Amino acid sequence: MTRILLLGGTTEASSLARTLAEAGADAVFSYAGRTAKPVSQPLPTRVGGFGGVEGLSGYLKTESITHVIDATHPFAAQMSTNAVQACKSVGVPICAFERPAWQAGEGDSWLHADSIESAVNALPEAPARVFLAIGKQNLAQFAAKPQHHYLLRLVDAPEADLPLPHTTVEIARGPFDIAGDTALMQRHGITHVVAKNAGGAGAAAKLTAARTLGLPVIMIGRPKVPERPVLGSVAEVMAWIAHPSAA
Ligand SMILES: NC(=O)c1ccc[n+]([C@@H]2O[C@H](COP(=O)([O-])OP(=O)(O)OC[C@H]3O[C@@H](n4cnc5c(N)ncnc54)[C@H](OP(=O)(O)O)[C@@H]3O)[C@@H](O)[C@H]2O)c1
Repeated sequence: MTRILLLGGTTEASSLARTLAEAGADAVFSYAGRTAKPVSQPLPTRVGGFGGVEGLSGYLKTESITHVIDATHPFAAQMSTNAVQACKSVGVPICAFERPAWQAGEGDSWLHADSIESAVNALPEAPARVFLAIGKQNLAQFAAKPQHHYLLRLVDAPEADLPLPHTTVEIARGPFDIAGDTALMQRHGITHVVAKNAGGAGAAAKLTAARTLGLPVIMIGRPKVPERPVLGSVAEVMAWIAHPSAA
């Protein structure tokens, strides 16, 4: 009997959920619970952390999970690390469904940062207008450069005061398009873009817009996670479910 745990929170996870539901698979979709109104899924859905590696290991056993698919965001490194460890401890196969990282192309002006801290350091000293397109986590680290005006694009309105003195908040949920992102950056007089290298199509419009407007992008590289099979399409994941040892 196959019973799948799909760790979600990305466009890729939602597209895989649709295929699993259409195939009549026995699968549970898991959200961390970071957003107030998560996208509804065509699979039974649970919300909230498992309680670390131990909690997840217990969940896998109690729920008789036979396969885990980690389709979390490439920057959700804690969840991905926990998932590999929990699966190892209870002997359940795991794969990641992950989009390839974005690569700079002709006309792009990217500065590569290997951490949030180095992205902060890469911003200029003179006041700038920064599109800080990194979600709501890690904003506090940018308080080290309070001279800048930060445009934030968030899924939910912030519940608490923001840790940055000069901000404009745009409430929106992707996918985004090039015309919209170009207009957004022009409207706010953006001079710099800070992005996480998420990959995929849904959040790539800001990079094309930055290229068109001749703006520099500070691109934060992906955090390291333990090794596991990484698959790039729904079809590959479906094949892996049938033969997990083949990946
Ligand atoms: N990081 C980003 O930039 C980003 C961007 C877009 C979407 N997301 C999505 O937002 C969610 C949280 O990301 P994060 O970066 O905060 O994760 P994280 O730092 O790797 O995870 C922190 C903790 O949140 C819980 N968690 C994370 N993803 C979960 C899931 N899908 N189901 C159940 N519990 C989950 C786990 O708690 P326990 O230890 O208690 O199990 C995990 O240890 C993920 O679903 C991710 O796909 C993240």
